Amino acid sequence: MGIFKALSKIRGGYPGGWKEYARGYQGNKTPQFVQPTSTDDRRSLIPPKGLREYWYPALPAKAIGKKKPVGLKLLGEDVTLFRDTNGEVQALWDYCPHRGVYLSWGDCFWKGYLSCPYHGATFNGDGECVEFITEGPDSKMVGQLKAKKFPTVTLKGLVFIWMGENEPVPPEDDIPPEFFEKDSVVLNTFRYWDCNWMIALENTGDAHNQWFVHRNSFRVARSGRSSRTPVGSRPRIVNNQTVERPNGRERQPYYADESGKVPYKFYHPRVNAYWPMYRRRLLWTWFFDAWNRLRPKRGRFFNVPGWEGQRLPGLVRNNHLTHMYTRWPVPVDENLSRVVYFFSARPSNWLGRLYDRVTFNLFLNWMINYNFSDQDYDAMRSARYQYPEYLSSTDWWRSGVSCRNTGAASNTTLRWWRRPQRSDWWPQQNSLLL
Ligand code: FES
Ligand SMILES: [Fe+2]
Repeated sequence: MGIFKALSKIRGGYPGGWKEYARGYQGNKTPQFVQPTSTDDRRSLIPPKGLREYWYPALPAKAIGKKKPVGLKLLGEDVTLFRDTNGEVQALWDYCPHRGVYLSWGDCFWKGYLSCPYHGATFNGDGECVEFITEGPDSKMVGQLKAKKFPTVTLKGLVFIWMGENEPVPPEDDIPPEFFEKDSVVLNTFRYWDCNWMIALENTGDAHNQWFVHRNSFRVARSGRSSRTPVGSRPRIVNNQTVERPNGRERQPYYADESGKVPYKFYHPRVNAYWPMYRRRLLWTWFFDAWNRLRPKRGRFFNVPGWEGQRLPGLVRNNHLTHMYTRWPVPVDENLSRVVYFFSARPSNWLGRLYDRVTFNLFLNWMINYNFSDQDYDAMRSARYQYPEYLSSTDWWRSGVSCRNTGAASNTTLRWWRRPQRSDWWPQQNSLLL
C-alpha cells in the first residue's frame, strides 16, 4: 500500500469534494449495457450476446500450442481450444461433463488429447472421453462421458467456430470469400472493446462521424476533408443477408458552390462561427497527395456480391480499393466485444505479398485499426439503448425510416431469425419464436 493511501486510511471517513462522485471520474468506465424493453424498439429483439447459428472468428491458430489448451469466451459461452491428434484445432465447451470444472485449466499430457485438471478425464478432438486417469485404464467412464463439441475450421491461420446448436452451414456462407482463395493474403488483428456488440456494429455504418470523430486521426488528417450531407443514403439488402451501402455517394457535392467545389469550411449561422474552426489541417495535405500518386497502383479489390457493407451475423466490409477491410465485433458477453479485423488483398506475385505484409505490420494496421478505429470506440461506447433516440436521416443503418427504398427492413440485425434461434438462450424472446 502506498504511503498516501495508508495515510488517507488513517485519516478515515469518506472522500470529500464534488469530483469523487461526478460521472466520468471513475475511470471513464463504459455504462452497463441495458437492452430496451419496448417492443416498438427493434433493438429489444436482438440477442444481447449475439446471434447464434453462425460461424464466428475465434483466434489465430498459432495461439494454440500442443501442451496447453486455451480458454476463450464468445457469445457468452466458454469454450476451450486444443490440438487433436492430427494437429487440427478443436473446440469443446469449457465444462468438464464429470463435475463441471474448466477444461481449459487442464493439460494436453498426451499429444492430441485434453485432460481435465480435476480427475483427469481425457478427451479427444470429438469430445469423447478416451481415458479417465484417476480411475485407471479400466475406468467405466471411458466411452460414456462426452464433452460438448463446437465445430471449427482453420483458414488463413485463423480459427472459426460454429456457434450454433444445429448442423453447421457450409463455412463459405459466413466466412468472407478471400479465406477460401489460394493466393489471397488475409491478415488479422484483435482488439477488445468494452461495449456491447450492437453498439460496436452500428458504429460501422455511421459514416458521418468520419470527418468529426476522426478529424485528428492520421488517416483523415492527411486529406483534410470536411462535412458530408444532411441527406441519408439508400442502402440495399442483398440476399437477405447484407446491407450494401452506395460507395462514396454520401460525399455528394451537396454543399458544392456553382463551380462544383465543396468548401473546406462551413458557416454555421446559429452560432455565428465556422467548422472546421481552423485551416491548419490543410498544411500537410500536399505531401500526402504526392505520396498517394507515388504509391504502387493496384486494381480495385474485386468483391463477391453480398460481401460488402454490413452482413449478418454482425460484420462490416468496406472496399478500400487496394484491399478489403473487415471489422467484426464478436460478442464476448453483453458488455464486451472482441473486435476482429481482416485485411484482405490479392497481390499478383510474391513481391506484392511481401509489400502487403510489411506495410500492414509496420503502418496500416496501426493507422486503421488502432489510431482511427479506437476513436470510434471512445466516441460511441457510452451509447445507451434503454432511453429513446432521435434519429437523423443519416442514421440510415439504425432508423430504417430514413431508408426510402428498403423501408423498415433496412436494419441488418432485424433479420436475425433467418436462422432459427434456440429460444431458451433468450427467454425474453420466447413469444417471438413460437
Ligand atoms: S471434473 Fe473433470 S474429471 Fe472430474
Ligand atoms: Fe468512425
